[in-house]
Amino acid sequence: MMLKILLIIAGVLLLTGLFFLGVMIHDVCFFVRRVYRISSPKLRKKTKLLLLADLHNHSFGPGNERLVKAIRKEAPDGVLIAGDLMTASRKATNEEPVLSLLEGIRKAGIPVYYGMGNHEQKLSAWEVFRKDHRFRRLKEAAEHFGVRFLRNETVFLEDSGIRIFGLELPFELYYALLERGIIARQAYPAKEMAKLIGTPDADSFNLLIAHDPEFFDVYDDWGADLTLSGHMHGGIVRVPFFGGLVSPSLQLFPKYDGGRYRGQKGELIISRGLGEHTLPVRVFDPAELVVLEFAPYGMDCS
Ligand SMILES: [Fe+2]
Repeated sequence: MMLKILLIIAGVLLLTGLFFLGVMIHDVCFFVRRVYRISSPKLRKKTKLLLLADLHNHSFGPGNERLVKAIRKEAPDGVLIAGDLMTASRKATNEEPVLSLLEGIRKAGIPVYYGMGNHEQKLSAWEVFRKDHRFRRLKEAAEHFGVRFLRNETVFLEDSGIRIFGLELPFELYYALLERGIIARQAYPAKEMAKLIGTPDADSFNLLIAHDPEFFDVYDDWGADLTLSGHMHGGIVRVPFFGGLVSPSLQLFPKYDGGRYRGQKGELIISRGLGEHTLPVRVFDPAELVVLEFAPYGMDCS
């Protein structure tokens, strides 16, 4: 009898383990398509933009061919990158998947606007401090085939009335002890942000690429109609009916983990990302390709 009970418990544990292993393999190796519809009187025409974030050198097939194919199939008006396609680690030295992805998108004639993540910022600093040339090499190669980096810069999509701002946060704001709440975060006022990227344009739809969603109240106060972020990887392990468990910087139960949020003036959409780094897992948190469908008021987005 005892042996029978032990065998049943072992069987249940084994099946549970296999189930979670299957979920993890699925969530890391495959990506889902998640669509958001945005309407505003400031928009001049229907526009489709894709949002990529937090690839962390991951490759969906050789040369990222599955991801490139999915992006080309969408035939978007542009691709926006909310940072961390690369990983700033001594071990993560293979940027080929990032370059293949960018090249594959550009070969289809799709404009690419690249906003910086904390990993690109760190690698950019390592150029000086460690003579680590990975970011410079990738940037130069990507710019060669037409990728536009937005390092506290803006670009205007005249047809659609969308003005894209790419914010590069002061790097000290990413300090892990701040992110985990161990050291109190200093307020980051919207006027400081305006010194970096200027002020929003009253006649345009102001789209802000800001890798870290933690400062959404600041972005909202600054005047972003829509903020696009990443950084949180969806909370890595998603607890059903609750949300993300932990951020990549080990912040427990992050307030902003992924999805859509409304502020006082504008909205925030956070990509759950495409890859992993410190904690190389995802549970009930599949990698995602975000599709943004913009339309003026009264026009069907579908
Ligand atoms: Fe990040």
